[in-house]
Amino acid sequence: RPVIAGNWKMHKTVAEARELSLRILDGARDVFPRIGLFPPALSLPAVVEEVRRVAGNLSDEVLLGAQNLYPADEGAFTGEISAPMIRAAGGNAVIVGHSERRQIFGETSDFVGLKVEAAIHGGLVPIFCVGETLDEREDGRTTAVVGDQLARGLTRIERPDDLARVIIAYEPVWAIGTGRTASPDQAQEVHAYIREELGKRFAALGGDPPRRDEVLILYGGSVKPANAADLLSQPDVDGALVGGASLDADSFLGICRACPAEG
Ligand code: PGA
Repeated sequence: RPVIAGNWKMHKTVAEARELSLRILDGARDVFPRIGLFPPALSLPAVVEEVRRVAGNLSDEVLLGAQNLYPADEGAFTGEISAPMIRAAGGNAVIVGHSERRQIFGETSDFVGLKVEAAIHGGLVPIFCVGETLDEREDGRTTAVVGDQLARGLTRIERPDDLARVIIAYEPVWAIGTGRTASPDQAQEVHAYIREELGKRFAALGGDPPRRDEVLILYGGSVKPANAADLLSQPDVDGALVGGASLDADSFLGICRACPAEG
């Protein structure tokens, strides 16, 4: 099943997060994709509470988590949160390696690799973000950059089963928050490349080639209800990671409804 995940970034107080999650959950009962909610960590317990109340025993169906983690269980790391803390708060997933973390907070691909490992070992589904800048694209280096991010990010994942739990998000940096989205063809091209690289990685780990539905690759970058159907109908696009448009229940649900029910 495709995934439509909302990255709320640094938006919404606890009360606002509760309200937004309720509005989304109310409207999401009849949508086909699996939804994901990534509020600021302070609001995660409140959102978990709403999800459990509304979705009951289907609440595990919702991907829920933080936007970052630190790769240690606990310790003197002021300002950070860990995988066990996210789990204890009711989360089942975490965003890792978002380009804002890489660009504003200086996270390297090797550090992101530690985080992907920490997420998997901590029982969380990592939504592992990769993507090139505009300069890198214009220099013809898109696949080299994305390939390097993938290799470093996944280097510590050593079991095919663990690799299958990682969700990749392809987010071209030039499309994030800019209103300028990748064309469906541009997205498809990079998604197909990522799927091929993942196939090689499975083989290197001694695993069978992944089934088509075993590896999820989401697109992110200015996804809106109006452009979602074209992007999501590409054969290798398995869903979306949505920033700005996830802050409004109607636009987030509009993207969910634009998601084709098959293919
Ligand atoms: P955007 O953000 O939808 O606002 O472009 C996407 C993201 O950063 O995940």
